[in-house]
Amino acid sequence: MTLKVKAVFVCTLAFLALSGSSGRNATAELVIIYTGDSGGEVESCGCSDLAYGGLARRASLVNVIRANHPAAVFVDAGDFFSPNVGEQDRLKNEITAEAYGAFAYDAVNLGEDDFNFGADFLESLVDSYGIPVISANISAKNDKPVAPPFKLISRGDVKVGVVGFLNPEVVASKGLSGATVKPYKKPLAEATRALAAEADVVICLAHIGNVEKARAFAARCPEEIDVVIAGHRGGRTPQAENVKGRWMVYTRSRNRYVGMLKLTLDDSRNVVAAENQVLPVTRETAKDEATQVLVEKYHAELRKLVEEKKLLKSPEEVPPDGFIYVGSSVCAGCHSLQTNRWQRTAHATAYESLLGAKRETDPECVACHVTGYGFRGGFLNAARTRDRLGVGCEECHGPGEGHAQSPAIKTQPTAAATCTRCHDEERSPAFDYGKYRDAIKH
Ligand code: HEC
Ligand code: HEC
Ligand code: HEC
Ligand code: HEC
Ligand SMILES: [Zn+2]
Repeated sequence: MTLKVKAVFVCTLAFLALSGSSGRNATAELVIIYTGDSGGEVESCGCSDLAYGGLARRASLVNVIRANHPAAVFVDAGDFFSPNVGEQDRLKNEITAEAYGAFAYDAVNLGEDDFNFGADFLESLVDSYGIPVISANISAKNDKPVAPPFKLISRGDVKVGVVGFLNPEVVASKGLSGATVKPYKKPLAEATRALAAEADVVICLAHIGNVEKARAFAARCPEEIDVVIAGHRGGRTPQAENVKGRWMVYTRSRNRYVGMLKLTLDDSRNVVAAENQVLPVTRETAKDEATQVLVEKYHAELRKLVEEKKLLKSPEEVPPDGFIYVGSSVCAGCHSLQTNRWQRTAHATAYESLLGAKRETDPECVACHVTGYGFRGGFLNAARTRDRLGVGCEECHGPGEGHAQSPAIKTQPTAAATCTRCHDEERSPAFDYGKYRDAIKH
């Protein structure tokens, strides 16, 4: 379909006026809800107000949008599995797949991370949960496509085609486990041509690379494509960008945002305007009950897994300077003033925060909420190492064996980097060394 696109952002009033009309000849609105790069994030850590997310909250946000726009198309640009390959990631992927099946997506594109546990693992979950995967350029061992190249969906009197592909450049040399990714140009052109014969609007789920790559792709992709929904890692496009007559948006990672793109179609179904919204999943976003059941299942199974496979590191590694951790109670013996002050900070009760979240055995949480995790003399468990719970003295001053025996041996100097190991961009987006240091003065 040819495009007559103007870079206009249509205001809400105009939408209200438009949505009242119906019939083939009238203008129409098409809402696309999009996600991508979920990365197996079943539940986020909740370390700060700005870092909420997770499957249950995201699901309820999508449900609200869908209640307001029942004809919305719901798609994912790929990488719904974790980028990592540990036992915990396998479990996250299984839970994510079950949730993705229940979410009633219209189409889910495949990214390279979706093959991290092999094509067979992916296929069995896709089959069990009925995830509507698509991909124009990935084939399995027997050279058969792993998924259909596209989906054709009817929404009212608008026919929507969705095609997806994976850019081989993002796969890197390791390749896909149990599958092969091929150059995408030819299969994508074939798929879009086939789709354009039937569809009024063609959406391309482009697992392409960063935003620049996405823009470059949108500028020279098959002309039948009306909308590019790009993904992989890193990028944000608060507004829909008009690139040479087609609209491009980029997905945000780890279930923390939901994208909503509203298209206005004229009477011959050309896209004449687009309005993009990127909705954050926050602490206030309710948890969808059905999805929360899966999240609880994840936690229950993770507990079992941690126990069976001993996923929590035991304190074996010797810290870099050769001294081992002795625990905050030893420091208290000579530094009662500092200890009293430290006890009033959030660091002292950081382990309680994990208890509150019922995630005190989650290997992905404890490292920053206890003292000396994985190192000799460090945290072992709540019963045996009580004074290694929370962010103790030695997390900032270094393992204290030497200094505690002979104070002439200096502790490790502190600096901003002491903090940003834990106060990273993701968990502590408001971190400011000056302000934060004043707040823990002792
Ligand atoms: C036996 C008593 C004693 C113990 C136990 C002790 N300190 Fe000290 N600490 C001192 C003394 C004395 C000084 C002052 C040293 C100086 O001024 O030369 C000091 C100084 C420090 C300083 C200032 C910087 C430096 O290195 O001189 C820090 C920080 C510190 N201690 C942290 C700790 C921590 C953390 C622990 C627990 C692992 C600890 N101390 C255990 C006696 C102790
Ligand atoms: C081992 C990880 C770790 C290190 C290192 C660390 N922090 Fe923290 N910090 C935390 C955690 C975890 C919390 C949240 C505690 C809670 O409430 O559960 C926190 C909370 C805080 C808070 C309170 C924030 C609030 O909104 O209440 C301040 C302030 C803070 N840290 C400052 C610092 C400074 C300054 C440094 C470096 C000198 C530092 N932290 C180093 C893990 C760390
Ligand atoms: C890389 C370090 C790191 C990891 C890993 C981490 N946290 Fe945190 N967490 C922090 C820091 C830093 C803060 C304090 C943030 C701030 O206030 O700036 C925090 C704060 C929190 C808080 C307190 C929020 C509040 O209300 O004050 C909770 C709860 C929490 N984390 C839970 C978790 C859970 C659950 C996990 C595992 C999924 C986890 N954390 C993993 C660093 C970490
Ligand atoms: C979150 C990081 C952090 C934790 C936890 C922490 N400190 Fe500190 N501590 C600092 C920083 C930062 C300074 C300031 C250093 C500076 O300004 O040179 C400091 C300073 C000190 C000093 C030197 C005070 C002075 O007057 O020079 C002592 C002693 C000390 N801390 C002991 C402790 C003890 C004991 C504990 C545990 C009860 C503890 N600290 C926990 C970060 C921390
Ligand atoms: Zn990817």
